[in-house]
Amino acid sequence: MASPAVSSRARLIQASPIRKLTPLADAAKKRGIEVFHLNIGQPDIPTPSDYWDAMSRRTPQVLAYGPSVGIPELRQGICSYYRRAGIDVQPANVMVTSGGSEAVIFAMMAVCDDGGEVVCFEPFYTNYNGFATMAGVKLVPVSSRVEDGFHLPPDEAIEKVINDRTRAILICNPNNPTGTVLTAGELDRLAGICTRRNLFLLADEVYRDFTFDGRVHKSTLELAGMEDRVIVMDSISKRFSSCGARLGNIVCRNAEAMDGMGRFGQARLCPPTLAQYGAAYMYENLHEEYFADVARTYQNRRDVLVSELEGVEGVFFLKPEGAFYATIRIPVDDSDRFAAWMLDEFSFDRMTTMVAPAAGFYATPGLGTDEIRIAYVLKEDNMRTALAVLREGLKAYPGRKVR
Ligand SMILES: Cc1ncc(COP(=O)(O)O)c(C=O)c1O
Repeated sequence: MASPAVSSRARLIQASPIRKLTPLADAAKKRGIEVFHLNIGQPDIPTPSDYWDAMSRRTPQVLAYGPSVGIPELRQGICSYYRRAGIDVQPANVMVTSGGSEAVIFAMMAVCDDGGEVVCFEPFYTNYNGFATMAGVKLVPVSSRVEDGFHLPPDEAIEKVINDRTRAILICNPNNPTGTVLTAGELDRLAGICTRRNLFLLADEVYRDFTFDGRVHKSTLELAGMEDRVIVMDSISKRFSSCGARLGNIVCRNAEAMDGMGRFGQARLCPPTLAQYGAAYMYENLHEEYFADVARTYQNRRDVLVSELEGVEGVFFLKPEGAFYATIRIPVDDSDRFAAWMLDEFSFDRMTTMVAPAAGFYATPGLGTDEIRIAYVLKEDNMRTALAVLREGLKAYPGRKVR
């Protein structure tokens, strides 16, 4: 007998384009090649000892469920963090989630019915595709360009794709995969469109602490008159280098949306209890100096990226402004093929560099095929070596193509 058919969601959800080259990297390592991982946003910055200390002080006899919206200390800690940045947020506006990932899924489900549309700027964080599939949402891309530093296209290009199924605009600021930080003027433009067209503004601000060259991140929570429209998705994964804790949060002042997301939370019971003790302690105790130090580390790595790749023939990008990513144009026929070739066939002094081909960050077929995303998550010396190896790879690649 034939097996029962699985759902179209299960058939269609994308495999992560960031992870798909991993078997080639594993094979290269087996051949004795050192692989520099610039392909994935896993920071090497140590998780603060405060996290482990706070958890080890809490050894309950029973590791019980917690409240579905998160433990009070953590919700309060998140409010304190925002208030230190001059943003007034109350615990009732905050809900703890299992990672920023769950926050994005809950936000999409809260604003869209099946087939509802969310406008988002490509290239975008590739897992938005998977979240949209799970939530039954259609992502509608509007393209941004490397020549513009991936800043927003004109209002007309955005408004053109809005129709009566559109429920929200989704932004990521600072951006993964581009490192772009939206200006206050750009955020005002988005607020104007959302107000005119009666839309939610979903803002993924998980990299909000990492901005460079004196830029100050403006949160969508600071947009006057947008209190009912904004849902912020946040996370401790990168903020406190705690990706494995699986903790994020939602901030939202729209009581009805918050209530719905709270009930999504009840259905999945609660976010990880122990990790929340650690996160609450970090939120209360790690302040500006900690964030400034981490941001400086990433800015220095960004500077290494710029000095190693700027001026290389056929390579083009504008200086990344925040987060720890850059999407850059490279002189190749196809960046998927190039990234695979770097692992499969190339090595320089028994080393190679793994990058993420950018096509997986675009929804429009054919875009991003001459771009890669680099995550600058390695120490400066390793970054320098990894980028020197990448330059050698670009010179030797048989499909090299300077436009
Ligand atoms: C832009 C963006 N949003 C959300 C996430 C998900 O983060 P979390 O580990 O908190 O689920 C990531 C992770 O890389 C990200 O880059």
